[in-house]
Amino acid sequence: MSIRFDESTKAFTLETKTGCYQMKVDELGYLQHLYYGPKVGQTNMSYAFRTYDHGFSGNPYDMRLNRAYSLDSMAQEYTSFGVGDFRVTSIRASFADGSRCAEFRYESHEILDGKYAIPGLPSVYDNGEEVHTLVVTLKDIAANIKIKLYYGVFAEQDIITRAAEIFNSGSDIVWLRKASSMCLELPFGKWDMMHFHGRHCMERQPERVPLFHGIHTIVSGRGMSSHQHNPFVIVCDREATEDTGACYGVMLMYSGNHKTEIERDQFEGVRIVTGISDDRFRWELKPGASFHTPEVILTCANGLTQLSHNYHRLIRHNVVRGTYKLSHRPVLINNWEATYFDITEEKILSIAEKAKELGIELFVLDDGWFKNRNDDNAGLGDWIPDTNKLPNGLGGLIKKINALGLRFGLWIEPEMVNEDSDLYRAHPDWAMRAPNRAPMMSRNQLVLDLSRQEVLDYLYETIAGLLEKNNITYIKWDFNRSISDVYSHSFPSPRQGEVAHRYYLNLYKLYDMLTKRFPLVLFEGCAGGGGRFDAGMLAYSPQIWCSDNTDPISRLKIQYGTSFAYPACTVCAHVSASPNHQTGRKTPLSTRGVVAMSGSFGYELDLSLLTDEDCAEIKEQVKRYKELEPIVHDGKLYRLSQTGDSTHYYSWEYVSADQNRAVLNIVVTNPLANSAPVHVRLKGLLPDAVYRINDEFECNGSALMIGGYTFPRLTGDYPAIQVDIIRIDR
Ligand code: GLA
Repeated sequence: MSIRFDESTKAFTLETKTGCYQMKVDELGYLQHLYYGPKVGQTNMSYAFRTYDHGFSGNPYDMRLNRAYSLDSMAQEYTSFGVGDFRVTSIRASFADGSRCAEFRYESHEILDGKYAIPGLPSVYDNGEEVHTLVVTLKDIAANIKIKLYYGVFAEQDIITRAAEIFNSGSDIVWLRKASSMCLELPFGKWDMMHFHGRHCMERQPERVPLFHGIHTIVSGRGMSSHQHNPFVIVCDREATEDTGACYGVMLMYSGNHKTEIERDQFEGVRIVTGISDDRFRWELKPGASFHTPEVILTCANGLTQLSHNYHRLIRHNVVRGTYKLSHRPVLINNWEATYFDITEEKILSIAEKAKELGIELFVLDDGWFKNRNDDNAGLGDWIPDTNKLPNGLGGLIKKINALGLRFGLWIEPEMVNEDSDLYRAHPDWAMRAPNRAPMMSRNQLVLDLSRQEVLDYLYETIAGLLEKNNITYIKWDFNRSISDVYSHSFPSPRQGEVAHRYYLNLYKLYDMLTKRFPLVLFEGCAGGGGRFDAGMLAYSPQIWCSDNTDPISRLKIQYGTSFAYPACTVCAHVSASPNHQTGRKTPLSTRGVVAMSGSFGYELDLSLLTDEDCAEIKEQVKRYKELEPIVHDGKLYRLSQTGDSTHYYSWEYVSADQNRAVLNIVVTNPLANSAPVHVRLKGLLPDAVYRINDEFECNGSALMIGGYTFPRLTGDYPAIQVDIIRIDR
């Protein structure tokens, strides 16, 4: 059993393969955090805490004579508010009598087999492996609210999930102003924070900074998890590297507004609070009602590589669902960068014919296929094929594509509407906009108010209708603006603070209904590239368009940053044209192939314009990707170059799950004259096994991991190579 409760010390111990999490109910009933880190045997970690009398950190009434006891310096599992803990709080609420404080003390707990689920929200699930759940109930007597803290212990995976449920056990309405998913404390140590910031076309750029005194906030108020701040942070020992050092991952499984606050306090303690952003959040909690927070996925690992491995395995096996979870992802051709809005059936078919010749398996028809969609100013909302462009309708085109031997995928952006659309003309109140105010436009479109039941029903029927009528096996689901002017006509004014979250509850419901009804359709998530790349979306869309930037050199850093949290199978990566449409950079086809093969692979260029030589190379790439996919998707990733800023190359390696094969990649981003040879030490091989390295030489795993591998000299424009490492002593 991975969860123990010791009656005599009132301590809970949660144990995973290499980690341990401890907390205890103290003499006043507060749930104190004791420890999260590598295993410590049976030791109760309370011994590590001494409390001093600190000025200006007051004492709960029951402890007024013990001035060393203060909530303001105590490590806690979920904080009280307004009663003398002046650090970042987990929760805030206001009550019928106008008071705004509550303190939570232990009431009861339960230990259950299996993993809890969260009503209305995606969460990590078990596959029947050893997973246990701890539920600790805390309550505030004066304010009549209870909080259930959920802990899911995935022992083998070294993962602990957390979530909270806030229950109104009184007879008056409670207004929730903040409802975080968890509080995690690191009372001792010197820490860095890594977070993944960015912008459209440059998502998830890693940044590592020492935690200073004060509050670091990673936040999105854009109505999406965002290009700007991914809902994922790492707090690691200041000395931590890829291979060693305590590293904690905090991943929020949520796609809307989020906030992670990391406070380094006056006593050097670090408190991490994460959850739905409290900015503009206000939730009416009626008597007898519960509010469920999104899930947080925690891991503690020795080194950044192990941390990534823990997330990669969990996301692939316990987050992603459905038919495509572990199976081959079709190699696709997407027409966006080939045609943009300028679609004709003839053009599409000429690309598709070529694609089939080259071994590509699926054609994705991107934006521009529907009525009045000749640019990005009109048409969103009316999902009816444009018969000027597709004279035989969608059905006619799909038949022809299928007849070529290709499967068919379709782009939609269901959450949006253009003012110039029949949908908007019929239901202007379905678009999100504040009363008496012209809304902010973005790409000249508005966001549908998905918090409304009618909008949910309409979208379900529309998308289900498209999928029923047509042989579509792939949907690229886009979302091309941030949400502003948040307001819903279906909620009274005091409840407008619920709208942003209700939007996501309904989005998840929509996805849930569609994925259940159409289990054979593969959904690709997208939000102007990777603006909604998060674990919440991955519960429904097994892969996500990583970035609108398809330049392989930019992609190196985007995919590098993405790799800290998300596995390669979730990363849609395409070979596009050179010069690249976003950066104008010219790169060899081989380099574009090497970079895109570290994801779920495809093409996005006009194949009918390519030379015979390029076509021959693409044919080889497709074959090669299919050979490498099991290594890249099921294997382990090792990042062999530094954070990308200081080096002139990127190098990374995938090792197959059985360690019998590895593929070593290098892309030179800045060829240097007369430079030292590029040398890397391989990782993750079997030390005693004998491997063949390309057709160059043979040696054992330990030689490659200690003596390393020296790349041949690579010159010219952004050269790249892949080195095959294949075990031969079996
Ligand atoms: C977004 C997507 C692109 C493409 C366009 C179409 O930007 O990320 O891949 O689908 O929309 O408008």
